[in-house]
Amino acid sequence: MSKQAAEVAKRRTFAIIAHPDAGKTTITERLLLMGQAISIAGTVKSRKSDRHATSDWMAMEQQRGISITTSVMQFPYRKHMINLLDTPGHEDFSEDTYRTLTAVDSALMMIDGGKGVEPRTIALMNVCRMRDTPIISFINKMDRDIRDPIELLDEIEEVLGLKAAPITWPIGCYREFKGVYHLTEDVIYVYSSGHGHERTDAKIIKHLDSDEARAHIGDLYDDFLEELELVQGACHAFEHDEFLQGQMTPVFFGTALGNFGVDQVLDAFVDWAPAPQPRMALEREVLPSEETFSGFVFKIQANMDPRHRDRIAFMRVCSGKYEQGMKMRHARINKDIRIADALTFFSSDRERLEEAYAGDIIGLHNHGTIQIGDTFTEGEELSFTGVPHFAPELFRRVRLSDPLRAKQLRQGLQELAEEGATQVFFPQRNNDIILGAIGVLQFDVVASRLKEEYKVECIYESINVWSARWIECDDKKKLQEFKDKAHENLSIDGGGHLTYLAPTRVNLSIMEERWPDIKFLAARESH
Ligand code: G4P
Repeated sequence: MSKQAAEVAKRRTFAIIAHPDAGKTTITERLLLMGQAISIAGTVKSRKSDRHATSDWMAMEQQRGISITTSVMQFPYRKHMINLLDTPGHEDFSEDTYRTLTAVDSALMMIDGGKGVEPRTIALMNVCRMRDTPIISFINKMDRDIRDPIELLDEIEEVLGLKAAPITWPIGCYREFKGVYHLTEDVIYVYSSGHGHERTDAKIIKHLDSDEARAHIGDLYDDFLEELELVQGACHAFEHDEFLQGQMTPVFFGTALGNFGVDQVLDAFVDWAPAPQPRMALEREVLPSEETFSGFVFKIQANMDPRHRDRIAFMRVCSGKYEQGMKMRHARINKDIRIADALTFFSSDRERLEEAYAGDIIGLHNHGTIQIGDTFTEGEELSFTGVPHFAPELFRRVRLSDPLRAKQLRQGLQELAEEGATQVFFPQRNNDIILGAIGVLQFDVVASRLKEEYKVECIYESINVWSARWIECDDKKKLQEFKDKAHENLSIDGGGHLTYLAPTRVNLSIMEERWPDIKFLAARESH
């Protein structure tokens, strides 16, 4: 195997999908502990934006110099290289999460054992399903009173439409939690509380049918055997192929807080999850083993270092090898640029990067030319597909307090739109600027950032827009006809795409009916 093929085979790139409070932050810390990226759990802080009020959230965001280092985490584990991509928990920032999920090869689904499958998990799972992303499941908080595990598996099957194959099975829960039984290895991993912050190997009892196991499980032993029989009869056995096709999920039980069961999950990623996969471009499929470099940008984030106004474009490498100082072709604008200082995200520090392979994430300094979805190559004309933009659901007209700052406002909004913080629309019939968002919190964040970063104070006004649709049409004549007729409601978005802003749902239906040759797209892929 060539060095490159070996490097690619070593990589596992995944994200965690979870409803807020299921334990994503906690397990992230434990995973980093496992990869020796941190020495004691409890050091990854300030990522709990989910549960805070808007004002807190913004104050925290302003300290993004701290939180950003955990936005992509790379660490070695069992001679493999793990890339863990963080996703914002708050649903108002779901677009960012959706796009991050396009950059992974697999995902870890965390479920709070007391609550089961929750709404945000369902939404994120639906995004994973678009690409049939393989999912490994972890049912968390076994040290608490949880719901019947069989019921939880049923819920995964029914609500998420995934076949659930238990790999471990819990012995008791809450104060009676005694560990998990590994269904195929026939061993018990013994739980002991109080080791949540350390790397410890769980004590193992070989064979369920042993005196040691009987003594450990105690009064629960007979009930446990009965339950196990039921589980083995009723549940699916794990099939690796079905997992890789995104149809079956292996399920583990444990407690992130107690750092129990987390190593089994990480082992499952190494043993079962796919190495970096091929990616589709408009022109062709690109294999990770190809020698020439390619990658796409799935996220842009500003102000990583509060002292500089730099923006970082997060790029997933799809093929070849990145080396410091290499030249890359920015395919959309057809320009070669030399990349001298890309960032890597090894351990918990930002470091200068030496090399990166398919599956890795690198951070490019962006001075305003890079947009979400952009493709970079070593000269070939390629456009990777599959990075989605969703039509906003909320709209505001922006007005300036100080009219003399119009230029700064435009620049600020353009940049925030490129970053994906909001969407911006410039109507064709007047000079208004309209902002679109998926979650209302986005507007507050934009106003606050305009003030902080661009010294622009703005006011929002309500506006009569129900939804936006991107317009596409292969027939140039028809398109022109449509542009003339629909002029009043047409605008150009921050990326230069023609967009129809529908005042009402009824209006949109009428237009769709009247213009059958025009595509009104609720989501578009960047390319
Ligand atoms: P999130 O990022 O998914 O939102 O969840 P996070 O890890 O912040 O966990 C949410 C709460 O659940 C935290 O408690 C955390 O300590 C707790 N938790 C996570 N895993 C487990 C577990 O396995 N068992 C138990 N019993 N609790 C768990 P908190 O009180 O809200 O925060 P904190 O004060 O402990 O930080």
